[in-house]
Amino acid sequence: MTDTTKTASEQDRVLIFDTTLRDGEQSPGATMTHDEKLEIAALLDEMGVDIIEAGFPIASEGDFEAVSAIARQSKNATICGLARANYKDIDRCWEAVRHAKSPRIHTFIGTSPLHRAIPNLDMDQMAERIHDTVSHARNLCDNVQWSPMDATRTEHDYLCRVVEIAIKAGATTINIPDTVGYTAPRESADLIRMLVERVPGADTIVFATHCHNDLGMATANALAAVEAGARQIECTINGLGERAGNTALEEVVMALKVRNDIMPFRTGIDTTKIMNISRKVATVSGFPVQFNKAVVGKNAFAHESGIHQDGMLKNAQTFEIMRPADVGLADTSLVMGKHSGRAALRAKLKDLGYDLADNQLNDVFVRFKALADRKKEVYDDDIVALIQDQVTSAEHDTLQLKRLRVVCGTDGPQEAEMTLSVEGVDHAIDATGDGPVDAAFNAVKMIYPHHAKLHLYQVHAVTEGTDAQATVSVRLEEDGKIATGQAADTDTVVASVKAYVNALNRLIHRRQKSAPGADMKDVHYSSHA
Ligand code: KIV
Ligand code: ZN
Repeated sequence: MTDTTKTASEQDRVLIFDTTLRDGEQSPGATMTHDEKLEIAALLDEMGVDIIEAGFPIASEGDFEAVSAIARQSKNATICGLARANYKDIDRCWEAVRHAKSPRIHTFIGTSPLHRAIPNLDMDQMAERIHDTVSHARNLCDNVQWSPMDATRTEHDYLCRVVEIAIKAGATTINIPDTVGYTAPRESADLIRMLVERVPGADTIVFATHCHNDLGMATANALAAVEAGARQIECTINGLGERAGNTALEEVVMALKVRNDIMPFRTGIDTTKIMNISRKVATVSGFPVQFNKAVVGKNAFAHESGIHQDGMLKNAQTFEIMRPADVGLADTSLVMGKHSGRAALRAKLKDLGYDLADNQLNDVFVRFKALADRKKEVYDDDIVALIQDQVTSAEHDTLQLKRLRVVCGTDGPQEAEMTLSVEGVDHAIDATGDGPVDAAFNAVKMIYPHHAKLHLYQVHAVTEGTDAQATVSVRLEEDGKIATGQAADTDTVVASVKAYVNALNRLIHRRQKSAPGADMKDVHYSSHA
């Protein structure tokens, strides 16, 4: 039974293990650059995440470098890397995480009947592999996490047996993954309870819960596991992750805070940092947050209906169970306009959680003025879109949009006149298409031929009104590699092309990383500039 009478400091601490940079980044299209990973890791560290799973070091040179750099820069958080159940993976993982003040190796193997069949190991052979690999990891690092992947579909007797073996071999955290998002809250709790009761040595380790959201129950399943004895929640910002994603950090943390009366557990998270990191992850992953997403959605604190607005004006608590400020949302949406100065913009950015260096502020200010010239009132969301636009485009990008004019209307074909700079050289072209966006994308393809396929094209209005900025997301796939680009502009076609170019730049960057210098060799440019 949970004791609800404890004071805050007496309450059990639940560790927050963030896997945005590993399980989240594994989501198709959510690939992040090295610098983006470092920036997100720094924000996670700053917000009080206990353990950051920074990547899967054996997966690629890029993953290895990112995990090592995050390990070196971490100030407070434990830095963890993932490794399969073999010595090579574990050694590589240790090489990357060992630079951290507090390193952790996380090794796993699929223990359910379906997963045992893949390496073709019988129960005894797998048990032996678990013993050997966990012991090997523990000889390298005194902080070892072990996961029986697909635990929620593993036979209970076998699960107890292998958990006991992992504990005896030196695991200090046992993570129980619901890999396919199959479990439900009562079952999630019963499973942890069973392990706590049946496994010798269970009281010497921390049980973790790792839930996927395929049936929309990841948050509820994680919280149920905590009530049954788990003391580490594995989660991602915005619930990013494969398929329907992972448990969302902001949801479990806010649930434990808001309903501390019935779930008396504490975390070390500074919740006022939530909104900022949510925006950052949405931008760099290219996965926008759904409007009605709990805690961080655009509508999470919006009150539209007359009854709700009336209630809110009389007493905010009538319809608000948490204050916007608790998650780092500025209370007011102070409208900015073309007369607002640099100091006002700096103050607004600070409110929104962005502390920019002077040169970055100058750049945003120029773009803010340009936007304010086109748009009477500039809202918070407009400013966030401006910042995100700056984050996604870099001066050293191979492709840069210089000029675009489209002709559209009822009589086709629609036309696009474009100047695109490729490695600093301008190329101009006219193209036609089925609509202005199609014509503009065709122009990009003519100037920079490629065979990347368009997987997603999505447009959102940032604010209300016909002068609203549009944020566009474009996902491209080329030879199995996926990249997502995002951009914002009051002109939807311009935003679309910038997002397309941004996704292409990311693909080019990945190509260059896998074969330095290979990218530009075979590219034929067509131009009549
Ligand atoms: O979902 C899962 O099973 C995982 C493991 C690697 C822990 O992500
Ligand atoms: Zn997972």
